[in-house]
Amino acid sequence: MKAMRLKKPGGLDNLYLGETEAPAPGPGEITVKLSASSLNFHDYLVVKGMIPAEDGRIPMSDGAGVVTAVGTNVREFAVGDAVVSTFFPDWLGGEATPEWLRAVPGDRVNGYACEAITTTANAFTKQPKGYTHAEAATLTCAGLTAWRALVVNGALKAGDVVLTQGTGGVSIFALQFAKAAGATVISTSSSAAKLERLKALGADHVINYREDANWGDTAKKLTGGRGVDHVVEIGGAGTMAQSIRASRLGGHISLIGVLAGFAGDISTATLMGMQIRLIGLTVGARQHQQDMIRAIDANGLKPVLDRTFPLEALADAFRHQESNTHFGKIIVAW
Ligand SMILES: NC(=O)c1ccc[n+]([C@@H]2O[C@H](COP(=O)([O-])OP(=O)(O)OC[C@H]3O[C@@H](n4cnc5c(N)ncnc54)[C@H](OP(=O)(O)O)[C@@H]3O)[C@@H](O)[C@H]2O)c1
Repeated sequence: MKAMRLKKPGGLDNLYLGETEAPAPGPGEITVKLSASSLNFHDYLVVKGMIPAEDGRIPMSDGAGVVTAVGTNVREFAVGDAVVSTFFPDWLGGEATPEWLRAVPGDRVNGYACEAITTTANAFTKQPKGYTHAEAATLTCAGLTAWRALVVNGALKAGDVVLTQGTGGVSIFALQFAKAAGATVISTSSSAAKLERLKALGADHVINYREDANWGDTAKKLTGGRGVDHVVEIGGAGTMAQSIRASRLGGHISLIGVLAGFAGDISTATLMGMQIRLIGLTVGARQHQQDMIRAIDANGLKPVLDRTFPLEALADAFRHQESNTHFGKIIVAW
């Protein structure tokens, strides 16, 4: 069976088409015939060699497909079920422990850029109803991260104001979950065309962060001076100062990404004085994914898909991601 693998030390030219096997499942295991994955910035760091991986690693944390065999003691799945992978197969629910966060598919263990895999049943949940495998494969990392930021940690409610940054996978899911919950959304982007697409998705206000260096202040003005309840912070140190300026007293900033750099000037005095809850997070537990999928089933939300590439063209898919011209999730399907 075909698999994309990564030669050490990484780099897009070191991705190659290899082979893999999916043996009969043992107790507690299932075999999944995979047919789609989606790209995340985390996968990019792995394939570029910035997160070191074992020689020959099969990349990609996201995978979706159909169960083709079920081992003994597996009661949750049957042959024919459409399933989607979980980011932390060992973190089922409750407070995370360091051990449960260790085995991330596509990073510390083989991932889903392959035709089939046999693994623990906990590495998958059922797909949302009516989803294609390509749609389902967007949920594992980007979808669940946005869900956890707003719903699990943020206790998002109707009437809240949510600030999203840019038009990558996490931010667009955050916009969609926020609108589904009855929140007001302020979204930023570096591109006028993308700002129009954000509006079409339901963003109530949009700001071009390239043209407006004080976008945090602008966002606060848009709330009538009160400030936003939640910031989905995907920029990190380089955007945090503006995110703090945008926040209301007692607001919540979900620290998710590092796209704007690893170091910056952050006013801890303002964080304190404004009583802001700054919460770092990494994706979520299997239980969170099941809750998110129940919510998707209830409201019919569909992910925004960008271009689709064949499995063999995985490197080209990452080159497309590098170009920053994408909007939503880049897909690999086979
Ligand atoms: N902690 C976690 O659990 C977790 C999970 C998933 C992702 N992440 C992190 O979250 C970040 C986003 O991930 P992703 O997969 O959604 O990435 P992505 O799809 O590659 O997002 C890229 C988009 O981010 C926007 N962007 C880049 N720099 C920006 C800046 N300085 N200010 C505002 N927007 C900016 C751009 O949007 P425009 O083109 O519209 O300007 C760009 O197109 C990454 O750092 C990733 O590592 C963390």
